[in-house]
Amino acid sequence: MSVDFTVSGDSCEPATVKRLGNAFCAAKLLLAAAEVGVFTELEKGPVTAGQLAVALELHPRGVPDFLAALAALGLLVREDGRYHNSAAASALLVRGKPGNLTGYLGRADRMLYPAWGRLGAALRTGQPQADDGFATVTNDPVKRNSFLSMMDAVNNQLLPGLLAAYPWSRCHSVADIGGARGNVAARLALAHPQLSATVFDLPEIEPAAQAHLTALGVADRVRYQSGDFFTDPLPTADVLILGHVLHNWAPEERAVLVKKAHDAVRPGGAVLVYDAMLDPEPTDLDRILVSLNMLLVTVGGSEYTVDDCSGWLAAAGFGDIRATAVGAADTLVIGHKSA
Ligand SMILES: C[S@@+](CC[C@H](N)C(=O)[O-])C[C@H]1O[C@@H](n2cnc3c(N)ncnc32)[C@H](O)[C@@H]1O
Repeated sequence: MSVDFTVSGDSCEPATVKRLGNAFCAAKLLLAAAEVGVFTELEKGPVTAGQLAVALELHPRGVPDFLAALAALGLLVREDGRYHNSAAASALLVRGKPGNLTGYLGRADRMLYPAWGRLGAALRTGQPQADDGFATVTNDPVKRNSFLSMMDAVNNQLLPGLLAAYPWSRCHSVADIGGARGNVAARLALAHPQLSATVFDLPEIEPAAQAHLTALGVADRVRYQSGDFFTDPLPTADVLILGHVLHNWAPEERAVLVKKAHDAVRPGGAVLVYDAMLDPEPTDLDRILVSLNMLLVTVGGSEYTVDDCSGWLAAAGFGDIRATAVGAADTLVIGHKSA
């Protein structure tokens, strides 16, 4: 049975409204299952609830209902009293598998879930509600790695669109501003061997970036430049990327970053901006939720429209501005600098 949490505006069914009011239970079932390692353990083979409780060192009391609920959500399959992963869980929720979402879910569990519990306070005060300020995240190695895994779980989905949206074979250099541990820069460099790539991010990210670039085999081709993008000059390149960066900041700060990007892009080059941009009258719930995440975890951030973005690009001096969809829930805006 599939579970739909939306409420038809014309329906006066108490059950559908109650189900939506309890939708946080379904989210927490998934987050807790990923946290305790249910999917990774079940990938070894089917087991009973009792056997799984022993393997994961869980108290036996809640485990049968926990697993039955995960099966009702389509994440597990029960056969002859034993549980195994559904195809979706096996593909997406097993730690260590390429493209798995456990890094994303871990960060959602530790940061977003508690922050959403304080949405009312954010709405009353306009203040972020995350337990971890960005400084804590960057300075604590465990939280930092969880944050970087979350970023990469998201930006990996955008790479096919990013590769298709720009004529990279005609480009010599790219700089990913706020490029985290260099995942996007590395994948672009791997796809286009003529590209020299720079990742610009905070000094605290550099050790994780060097490790990631080494693991991907591009440490000799992708350079890490540490700095603060508000106070330091940006690296010069044919293409600058501002990906999932502008939404972290207030509109006037976004305009400053785009102007600095224009100064750093070589004549004839371009800036690429991607975020979960909103329609002028937003209806896409996934994107609206990303914007509310920004309310909960940043001081001035939110999503914004293509027109807002085009305005910052045009004011900075970019022309021939075009927007295209990338991934399931992001928009890419490209602005060109005259030759
Ligand atoms: C939301 S992440 C986006 C990462 C990556 N571009 C992506 O698309 O997955 C924002 C990045 O901006 C970096 N950042 C935040 N403040 C910064 C600053 N003042 N100077 C340089 N980088 C900064 C963070 O460390 C983080 O890696």
